[in-house]
Amino acid sequence: MAQAATDVRAMFDRIAGRYDTANRVMSAGLDVLWRRRAMRLLLDRLEQSPWVLDLGAGTLDGAIEILHQRPDANVVAADFTRAMLVAGRRKPGAAAVTLHAADSRRLPYRDGAFGAAFSGFCVRNLRDLALGLAELRRVVRSGGRLVILEFFQPAQPRPFWDGLVTNRLLPLLGWAASGDREAYRYLPDSIQRFDTRADFEIRLRDVGFAEVHGQDLFPGGIASLVEAR
Ligand SMILES: C[S@@+](CC[C@H](N)C(=O)[O-])C[C@H]1O[C@@H](n2cnc3c(N)ncnc32)[C@H](O)[C@@H]1O
Repeated sequence: MAQAATDVRAMFDRIAGRYDTANRVMSAGLDVLWRRRAMRLLLDRLEQSPWVLDLGAGTLDGAIEILHQRPDANVVAADFTRAMLVAGRRKPGAAAVTLHAADSRRLPYRDGAFGAAFSGFCVRNLRDLALGLAELRRVVRSGGRLVILEFFQPAQPRPFWDGLVTNRLLPLLGWAASGDREAYRYLPDSIQRFDTRADFEIRLRDVGFAEVHGQDLFPGGIASLVEAR
């Protein structure tokens, strides 16, 4: 994938300390609501004391939200950038999350280890997306649920939104909040290079998820959720 041109781990390593501030500024706080909604979908009717994976967990906002909604869950946060996990470790609620430095290409879990898995704003960055999704399929038990929260390439042109907001305003805000120009230039580029939601749904079926449903969280699909079983 084109993501190979950017050293994703080095980039997240650089911005780890300012990642949350940049998120809040760029999304005007909406990212918090998006994760909350994703977790409601993920955890709906899940068994008691479930094992739940957050892949590409970063600074742990998703993992902590899982525990907020389901305090009985066993939450495992996996990410290949240690600095992101370390930045999240100090947050309230993080002590109950199990942290693993792990790469999506080879997840250190047995088959069917998890009742559910979540990945937020991570899959767009994977160098080997097919392998990462196959690993997610492998570690989620049969009938278990996967929820992906992501920015997909728009299916229809959005001249105003992409021309002005995604390509100009967001990189400027991200740069101002993080001090890292390159990382926030990468954001619109990676969205533009990534799958549309429909193409991504086909990938999930290809790796063996039988039921796949997507929904846009914003008109025009600025952020989307994809649920698979
Ligand atoms: C944009 S951040 C998202 C963090 C968090 N999920 C959130 O919602 O804020 C993407 C995360 O994916 C991680 N990541 C990217 N490629 C990865 C890979 N191959 N294996 C594991 N983690 C990866 C990065 O280190 C980074 O922490």
